Amino acid sequence: MPEKNIPLKERIIVALDVASDEQAREIVKRCESHVGYFKVGLQLFMANWFATVDWLVDRGHKVMLDLKFFDIPETVKLAVEQVNNRGVSMATIHGNDPIIRAALQAKGDMRLLAVTVLTSFGEEDMRAMGMAQSIEDLVYYRAERALKLGCDGVVSSGLEVERLRESLGKKLLIVTPGIRPGANIRDGLDDQKRVVSAGRAIGNGADHVVVGRPITQATDPVAVIEEMQVEIDQVEVKE
Ligand code: C5P
Repeated sequence: MPEKNIPLKERIIVALDVASDEQAREIVKRCESHVGYFKVGLQLFMANWFATVDWLVDRGHKVMLDLKFFDIPETVKLAVEQVNNRGVSMATIHGNDPIIRAALQAKGDMRLLAVTVLTSFGEEDMRAMGMAQSIEDLVYYRAERALKLGCDGVVSSGLEVERLRESLGKKLLIVTPGIRPGANIRDGLDDQKRVVSAGRAIGNGADHVVVGRPITQATDPVAVIEEMQVEIDQVEVKE
């Protein structure tokens, strides 16, 4: 069961979406006085495999490895096996029931999170794929399945978090990307569509927020972090 009482320093997970280990380390060194949780995703992992992950773990930081595995169940299980026992705290998978079941067999002491619907995916993308249901219903359905199957948590946008938390309870760990600073929420969306502020995501029931570009591309990343932490500190946490 996921631990709660999450310290402020671990509420924001900084997404190290950069091309090299050197760039990632530079960001970590600038932010680590305020943040102790970092996300390694596809771009950085393709550049140097586990180098940054191992360095972060040795430095005492928590790591979310966000490779969103999706393949036949056996392949996903074997991929998850390559990740466990390296000190990674959370890893992500996509998938239907057989994929999730297979991944769970191999997760070791990591927390396994199922991606519900990407935050870059909007209602019009659902229609374009011929899907009649709403994103909210699809997120809910997938989260409920993931929890029943034994996943530790899900990745979901801040717009659906409230319903997930209220209907699925405290046990589920919810991580929310698609975060943009509160004051200018519609500016600087990049490719994200379903965005909320850090404070709103945590207030709605998320355990952690994942923040990439608003921090990594800021002239003063620590100032952005501090601002988000003040917001987070002010909301009532529904965990
Ligand atoms: O730069 P930005 O804050 O938009 O980065 C968001 C990060 O969260 C990216 O690393 C992206 O891969 C990840 N993510 C996401 N939506 C999901 C799952 C992960 O944006 N559903």
